[in-house]
Amino acid sequence: MKYEITGGHRLEGNITISGAKNAAVAILPAALLVKGVCRIENVPDISDVRILLDILADMGAVVSKEPDGVVVLDCTNITSINPDPDLVRKMRASYYIMGALLSRFHQASVALPGGCNFASRPIDQHIKGFRALGAHVDETDDYVHLSEGPFGLRGNRISLDVVSVGATINIIMAACLLPGQTIIEHAAKEPHIVDLANFLNTMGARISGAGTDTVKIRGVESLRGGTYAIIPDQIEAGTYLAAVAATGGNVLVQNVIPKHMDCITNKLQEMGARVINYDDSIRIISDGKLHRTTVKTHPYPGFPTDMQAQICVCMAKADGTSRLTESVYETRFFGYCTELASMGADIMINGKTAVVTGVKTLKGASVSANDLRAGAALVIAGLCAEGTTKIGNIHFIERGYENMLGKLTALGAKINRIEE
Ligand code: EPU
Repeated sequence: MKYEITGGHRLEGNITISGAKNAAVAILPAALLVKGVCRIENVPDISDVRILLDILADMGAVVSKEPDGVVVLDCTNITSINPDPDLVRKMRASYYIMGALLSRFHQASVALPGGCNFASRPIDQHIKGFRALGAHVDETDDYVHLSEGPFGLRGNRISLDVVSVGATINIIMAACLLPGQTIIEHAAKEPHIVDLANFLNTMGARISGAGTDTVKIRGVESLRGGTYAIIPDQIEAGTYLAAVAATGGNVLVQNVIPKHMDCITNKLQEMGARVINYDDSIRIISDGKLHRTTVKTHPYPGFPTDMQAQICVCMAKADGTSRLTESVYETRFFGYCTELASMGADIMINGKTAVVTGVKTLKGASVSANDLRAGAALVIAGLCAEGTTKIGNIHFIERGYENMLGKLTALGAKINRIEE
């Protein structure tokens, strides 16, 4: 299957943002820590979530999906602590099962994760955290086996060598049910880390400091069930804001937390789009004529690496020469810059920086999504290009965007799924 997009149509109307992918893929495995029923609302219907629910069901969780993004999950009677390796390898965030199982069952055997491989994505900081908590870790080429080390499992102080979203979340999970206090220093501060901590605290955990660079977890004996609603997806919202900025239009983006969006909307405004913040929505108005800018990606609250490719498309049709520097994943440009070049973009990559000289128009072409955000960027490029763009490998896009076709079509975009 491919997406076929006929470009050049202004985007007009309202769009509603789904629950955050990267919060959902942490919160669902965190339910493994809970003895009781978790009712989780605002869960996006995306393939990563479907895979994760299959993994949990296979481990003995009782999973039911209700309408409007509600997932009811009961992990009281887990029957296997060896998640299906074939499913685990289909996505990245399956690594959170390690931390959750270690905390609750004091052991786990989990295959190394798959997912978008736009860079080398080590998990040494996760492992360092597990070891500091007293785990014995046996790593093979494709598996991680965790068990209780000789001195038992208990809270400890862990200073991360790199600011890592995944390690912060995995160590929070691992520490949740262990005796004593864990302190994570140089923790990542992304909104989905706060969301995970809020979920766990709702279920009875004692986590403080999430959203700052020091997170403290005081272990508790058990967690109970409850109801929790996942936050809106910052990157999905950012993707549609960038699409309107580049294509032109007037769209109300609903179900967002505007504060989470500042790092993105500030740049789009600097580039010439008009942005109006309301309580839980953002209006963006653009004539599609953008100015050059400079962007450097950073961990939150900086400009997100997950918006690098989308802002690059805005730069590709802005007047003048922009500079886009990646500081989280150096090789992320390679997933989409060649594809954008085949659509007429003028991009020179110089180490960590892409120098993007705006062109008058992008032109439709046959391109391929090499990862999730690269795919999203190609959709934006297709929307603002002259002619028809065909995008292959759309399973990457559907891994993280709920109903992108339906949402864009409702805004007047000409986009279809075609068999080819
Ligand atoms: N890193 C290490 N060792 C580790 C962990 C990370 O060296 O043990 C390095 C990475 O190589 C990278 C940096 O630290 O250079 C940050 O990586 P991080 O651990 O924060 O990334 P992640 O947890 O694997 C999550 C998101 C990504 C997003 C990054 C950065 C999930 C499931 N994934 O990945 O999302 O790009 O944080 O914000 O939450 C996406 O949604 O498209 C996506 C790739």
